Amino acid sequence: MLAQTPKNDKQILRLGMIAELDVINLYEQLAENAKNNSVKKVLLDIAKEEKTHVAEFETLLLKLDKEQEQETEAGRKEVEKLTE
Ligand SMILES: [Fe+2]
Repeated sequence: MLAQTPKNDKQILRLGMIAELDVINLYEQLAENAKNNSVKKVLLDIAKEEKTHVAEFETLLLKLDKEQEQETEAGRKEVEKLTE
């Protein structure tokens, strides 16, 4: 059962992103602890695939949430300005 019950598609996509980001951390942490190099390699490959899933959810969210799209661009510009 979900900790939060999504009430609309935007909330579903955000929860999907949270889950994917969480599992990326999990796989990377497991890879750091893995002693066997094949296990480490597969975990890191799966973590990479999960990053694609984050991007899929994010891309769809940005189509549905125009405010998020604008704020994502604002955030990008702010970071560029702060780090130039
Ligand atoms: Fe995934």
